[in-house]
Amino acid sequence: MKILLFGGFGLLGNDIYSFLTECGHSVFRFQKNELNLLDISLVREMINEINPEIIINSAGYTNVNGAELNYKDAIDGNVKSLHLLVEVISKLDIPLIYFSTDYIFDGVKNIPYVENDFPNPLNFYGWTKFMAEQVIQANLEQFYIIRTAWLFGNNGNCFPKTIITMLKNKQKIRVVSDQIGSPTYTMDIARMIPNIFKMPFGIYHLSNKGEVSWYHYSKLIAKYGGFSTDLIEPIKSEENASVPKRPSYSVLDSSKIVKCASSEIRGFEEALKEFMLILV
Ligand SMILES: NC(=O)c1ccc[n+]([C@@H]2O[C@H](COP(=O)([O-])OP(=O)(O)OC[C@H]3O[C@@H](n4cnc5c(N)ncnc54)[C@H](OP(=O)(O)O)[C@@H]3O)[C@@H](O)[C@H]2O)c1
Repeated sequence: MKILLFGGFGLLGNDIYSFLTECGHSVFRFQKNELNLLDISLVREMINEINPEIIINSAGYTNVNGAELNYKDAIDGNVKSLHLLVEVISKLDIPLIYFSTDYIFDGVKNIPYVENDFPNPLNFYGWTKFMAEQVIQANLEQFYIIRTAWLFGNNGNCFPKTIITMLKNKQKIRVVSDQIGSPTYTMDIARMIPNIFKMPFGIYHLSNKGEVSWYHYSKLIAKYGGFSTDLIEPIKSEENASVPKRPSYSVLDSSKIVKCASSEIRGFEEALKEFMLILV
């Protein structure tokens, strides 16, 4: 299959690129300085030239803290860029896979979120991703919105890497224990993509199974990395008042995608163990 991948050098995009290429697909990716989604004429030209069968957009403004300070960058990166892309592909017969986030939810639920739960983002990043979802739903018929969460992987910054660096430096680590989510391995999302191509269009949740607080997640990272957990200490979210609000519970229920893709997704602990073997 001929695939155009935006964000193909990012944390998630890199694994999607490697996996789909290994599967024999012909995947085109570009650095942001070669093909910026905000440069609509070049984007249109490249889409016409490549003539992809599907477009995957893993690009975006992903700095949750930064978004509160840089509204324009967050809007440009997550909403305007997507609006421009959608304008081009709405006139063509090309489906879009787009990645959204658990941070569109407010966390008041205490059981996993399903696709039609009411979104109510608590921070500006979450709002921009929710707006992006609206742009897609209002203008495209052939789309997959894949909401995922708490990504870790080899090709960029992620929580396990930060924790391991701090453990190696023997730093004290204070981590919130009152925010619960589902850590998700980028390779496991990448492995699911060929099945996504065969599913009905729509919104899907996709994360590794299981749930954990950032604090317990840090302890698991230390454990599987072969470090002591003594330096890790729990704190409450209000002790970290300088960062934007995040949902206290944002676990995603992935049963719809598991059913539609006819493919299981494993627990995050098994995925984390595998990742730590690569990382440490
Ligand atoms: N990371 C998570 O925990 C998480 C959780 C839930 C959902 N998601 C979603 O999953 C997707 C992938 O996340 P990620 O963590 O892989 O992000 P990432 O590592 O920040 O990668 C995003 C990539 O997009 C590129 N990019 C940004 N703006 C662009 C533009 N205007 N034109 C072309 N390329 C552009 C970036 O290039 P530069 O680096 O050069 O700026 C970067 O390579 C995002 O949509 C994110 O919202 C992520």
